[in-house]
Amino acid sequence: MRSGVFIPGKVILAGEHAVVYGKPALAASLRLGVVVVAGEGNSSRENELVRKAITVAGGSEEIGVRIESELPVGAGLGSSAAVAAAIIQAVREYVGKPIGQDELFELTMKCERLAHGNPSGIDPATVVYGGLIVYTKGQPFERLAIKRPLKVLLVNTGKPQESTKEMVELVAKNPDKERLVEEIGELTKKIRQELIEGQEIGEFLDQNGRLLEELQVVGERARGLSRELRGMGAKVKITGAGGRGKGSGMMIALSPDLAKIKRWLDNKQITYLETKIGKV
Ligand code: PMV
Repeated sequence: MRSGVFIPGKVILAGEHAVVYGKPALAASLRLGVVVVAGEGNSSRENELVRKAITVAGGSEEIGVRIESELPVGAGLGSSAAVAAAIIQAVREYVGKPIGQDELFELTMKCERLAHGNPSGIDPATVVYGGLIVYTKGQPFERLAIKRPLKVLLVNTGKPQESTKEMVELVAKNPDKERLVEEIGELTKKIRQELIEGQEIGEFLDQNGRLLEELQVVGERARGLSRELRGMGAKVKITGAGGRGKGSGMMIALSPDLAKIKRWLDNKQITYLETKIGKV
């Protein structure tokens, strides 16, 4: 069996949606990810994104790929960017033309345009370069070294009904967009500073979460869950594009007593992932 290419998923800590309008966002790669083996499987049965990634890499349609993913799809954990990047790298290795990170970022971005319409590039940047980064559209990203890794829960609020593209379009029509984007941008800068200084980011993260609710990218179910978790002392914010009709994807929860939050979630049969940010 050929060895596969691993690309991690990602979580956006702060600044999603505002990043589309030129504000900075903070994102980290995860330990969970995608493994792709090129030269196996049948590409004719694959979806559009997979075929696009194979051709973008210069591979022919006959090159099949085998994809194994630990990332929930449509949950805001960067599944589409990670799948595209892993396919591109695996196909390039398969055809004997290994690819460097900058080119991998550019080609993954091409695939994201197919999936998203107007992507900021934060997903491809985080999954390709890895680590904890500050990303601003069109600028070189900044890598953050933080003193203590941050322990977080990623709580599943349910799969969004809408795509990232649809959520970005909804935000574009929001009459309060300009003010909210500005405020989210300012909060992201504060969170960056707190992380560098080794301070608690919970309060600012929670404020970012409330602004996303105001931006109307958080549905009723996730808002109810936020209220419950905040009532138990947690700081919460959805991560990624969100969702309005049904689920809103994953929600970051920070708490000095994560064990209590986990017991409550277990009781309610709400699923979650536990991960550390700032340490890959
Ligand atoms: O695809 P998601 O759920 O990780 O969201 C991407 C982040 C957005 O800011 C909503 C869109 C973008 O392209 O930056």
